[in-house]
Amino acid sequence: MKPDLTPSICLLIAVVLSGPARAAQDPPRHLQTYRQQGVDQVDIQNGRQLWYSTVNQRSCTSCHGDNPAKAGKHVKTGKAIQPMALSANAERFQDAKKIEKWFLRNCKWTLGRECSTQEKADILTWLSSQ
Ligand code: HEC
Repeated sequence: MKPDLTPSICLLIAVVLSGPARAAQDPPRHLQTYRQQGVDQVDIQNGRQLWYSTVNQRSCTSCHGDNPAKAGKHVKTGKAIQPMALSANAERFQDAKKIEKWFLRNCKWTLGRECSTQEKADILTWLSSQ
């Protein structure tokens, strides 16, 4: 009996097709900056936990929605916010200034304090994996 090559061909096609998608999900360059600022290891579960934690009825999900791969809606203005997951929005986390500006503003508004470099690295890693 001749070996059936169909599975390997399908696999090959899948690998070829996933090429560009995977490139878009490369960890953001900004993580390198956090490493230079002293972050040794990232804790992806901690990133997830921070994202979903609620302080005084405020959470990152208040504006960004429960599913980072879907668009969110600003809790105050009602404006749509594009998905945070890198898999759904390749334009995310490309500009260091933008990332820092929003981390500062949103951590303060949501958690009532600034996020540490470690926390930002954890959250960024988690969002990038989504
Ligand atoms: C009050 C609404 C609101 C809340 C709550 C909120 N965000 Fe945001 N966030 C925004 C808006 C608006 C933007 C900018 C618009 C955009 O990038 O689509 C943004 C952008 C960001 C960005 C920049 C993304 C990029 O592409 O560079 C990061 C990082 C971010 N938020 C993290 C968080 C984290 C972490 C929390 C929870 C601690 C949080 N946000 C909670 C409204 C919010």
